[in-house]
Amino acid sequence: MPLSTKHLLGIKDITPGDIDLIFKTADNFKQILNRPIKKVPSLRDVTITNVFFENSTRTKISFELAEKRLSADVVNFSSSSSSVKKGETLIDTVNNILAMKVDMVVMRHPAPGACQFLSEHIPAAIINAGDGTHEHPTQALLDAYSIREKLGDVKGKKIVIVGDILHSRVALSNIFCLIKLGAKVRVCGPPTLIPKYIHHLGVEVSYNLRESLEWCDIANMLRIQLERQDDRYFPSLREYSLQYGLTMEILNSLKKEIVVMHPGPINRGVEISSEVADSEQAIILNQVENGVAVRMAVLYLLAGKKLEE
Ligand code: NCD
Repeated sequence: MPLSTKHLLGIKDITPGDIDLIFKTADNFKQILNRPIKKVPSLRDVTITNVFFENSTRTKISFELAEKRLSADVVNFSSSSSSVKKGETLIDTVNNILAMKVDMVVMRHPAPGACQFLSEHIPAAIINAGDGTHEHPTQALLDAYSIREKLGDVKGKKIVIVGDILHSRVALSNIFCLIKLGAKVRVCGPPTLIPKYIHHLGVEVSYNLRESLEWCDIANMLRIQLERQDDRYFPSLREYSLQYGLTMEILNSLKKEIVVMHPGPINRGVEISSEVADSEQAIILNQVENGVAVRMAVLYLLAGKKLEE
């Protein structure tokens, strides 16, 4: 069965069957990534451009590595050094890139919906690498994949997502993905950073970190998205950290051992202490490693879909 979609715009639009197919494909690529020769010819003659209108370290490198390991031709574009600064529209920019015979576009953009918009106007497969506060589907896929790898299955597992839920595309994509896979999801953070109607998505809401940690199997600790905040949502980072920061002291005082996740970039000493981030319980670098295999799977499956047409 192929994917049910031509683009990966968000987890909201894909089916549990799509996620399962992506995971099984990623399992194969993960094996290849552990071999001495990590490259396969699957996407030879496919040209992919990574269009980044927002800063990124791991997502950009991860996509680029995934593309190169599939033998695709890769072109990178970053808005800071482009004609966007000269007043060009998004559609014009991307159409100019496509005129050079590009097959797929991986895009990060500060505006929610930018990838959806592009997919309606442009004849290439679009992969959303983060659209503002909206979705970050490959991050959610690699997070769920890492949970499956660590605990055997996602179904029935209890996951708490802690932090700035209001401004986090990682939170929203994770919620859609984990619920589709049958997990129990809770969000936890200060009331000002939790959207009012979020329970309609099928998640529990808690403002109490300790109680949520006692409840969960996995805690996914998110960064405060200061760059997206135009208001003061809590008195100070120090106070946030005292109430919602994960320390070794809290972890060791729990009745069971939980798994700790973080999408990065980490703000050590704010949402997570250095000790916790570097501890045995944290799977943060496994998440990064799995990111390449999961992105290879997404690129491979979407390219196949395009070739079928
Ligand atoms: C996240 C993002 O960009 O949304 N980072 C990432 O992709 N690994 C999370 C964040 O910026 O905090």
